[in-house]
Amino acid sequence: MATPAHELDLPALDLLGVERAEAVAALKAAREQHWLARNPLGFTVTRYDDVVAVLRDRRFHSALSLLPAMSGVSDEFLQNRQQRSILAMEGPEHARLRRLVAPAFSPKGADRLRPFMRQVVGELFDAVAPSGRCELVADVCEPYPIPIICELLGAPKEDWKLFSAWATDIFRIFNGDLAGDLPRIKAAAAELDDYVRAMIAERRSDLRDDLLSAMIAAEEQGDRLSTDELVMMTEAVLMAGTDTTRNQLACSVALLAQHPDQWALLAERPELASQAVEETMRHLGAVAGTARVAAEDVELHDVVFPAGTLVMTSLATANLDPAKWPEPERFDITREPTTSPQLTFGSGIHYCLGASLARAELQEALPLLARRMPDLALDGPIEWKPANVGIWGPARLPLRFTPA
Ligand code: HEM
Repeated sequence: MATPAHELDLPALDLLGVERAEAVAALKAAREQHWLARNPLGFTVTRYDDVVAVLRDRRFHSALSLLPAMSGVSDEFLQNRQQRSILAMEGPEHARLRRLVAPAFSPKGADRLRPFMRQVVGELFDAVAPSGRCELVADVCEPYPIPIICELLGAPKEDWKLFSAWATDIFRIFNGDLAGDLPRIKAAAAELDDYVRAMIAERRSDLRDDLLSAMIAAEEQGDRLSTDELVMMTEAVLMAGTDTTRNQLACSVALLAQHPDQWALLAERPELASQAVEETMRHLGAVAGTARVAAEDVELHDVVFPAGTLVMTSLATANLDPAKWPEPERFDITREPTTSPQLTFGSGIHYCLGASLARAELQEALPLLARRMPDLALDGPIEWKPANVGIWGPARLPLRFTPA
């Protein structure tokens, strides 16, 4: 007989306001006790196989559209916007969209931008190189992804600053003061909307070699994306593809800065870039978890989650599961890939659409920085963002190195 989840005797987690390292320690302790833990909003799964099982289970839906209500905001504009996002869509609607857009996000499309990625990181780093010191977040990580996304979409260089400002303002959704930030969020979203609509109108008569044109041209058995869908996808790419990449780059460098032997190894052997990206994302992912809501009564491992139950998946502890990696805590960029991929890009139908692009961005940035920053060391304490922010990493990463 299956037991309702709320009747189980489970480890209890209350991680609000708790630092990331402490939160991961508590999640790991819970992982040892039971496959499921209780949290103030619902439940948490902490083991690799269970995280994958929840993320692949169509009976669990994305919880993104619940965010405004959970923050105490009942704004129609925001509600509609969140619900329309690919991240919140489910069922045949989501499947249709993924089928149409997926080819435009191919590894080949990402590879095409690699020389441009090297150029952008190289130029950002040139500005600080002679001094032998930098604050990597402000100097390199923050500005890095916007030109790449703009180039990918096909937005002209003179407009990059606009995209950067819109992304910053729209990201206020996650800053914890949704009510106070709402006017700025709405204004930025409206401006971005207008801009993208104009861009789409232009491309419709003049297709080019960019992501927006590829999405306009995408067709499957006579089906095409509507203008509203194209606008939503462009905004999703801007929103999902900037803060994630910049935080992940900072997390990855912060980790490598604390393992100088592996930093030196990466400088010497740039062919380790791909393994270094997977291993740093496994140890310190910018996205530590994602949430799902039971769309119907769901029975899993003899436990019933009534419809409406919130289930958090801990990507951070799944990535350190001893059932999947020998000595999971050992950080080693020469680790051979296993059959279980690290989960910082998620799993299942919402698996990150930009994973090839993000991997390419990190694979280009890390060895370049390793080569140009020999003798890397922390130049003061790392300031971390509060652990409750959805996309997490260092707020400040002061570094020193021997100028090459
Ligand atoms: C290191 C950087 C990145 C990380 C860690 C990351 C992580 C994730 C995760 C965990 C999800 C799934 C969320 C869920 O299941 O609730 C996701 C979805 C998504 N990501 Fe990424 N992402 C990154 C970079 C990017 C980039 C560069 C782009 C765009 C070019 C992008 C576009 C998307 C989109 C559109 C989705 C939604 C897919 C869907 O719902 O079907 N991401 N990402």
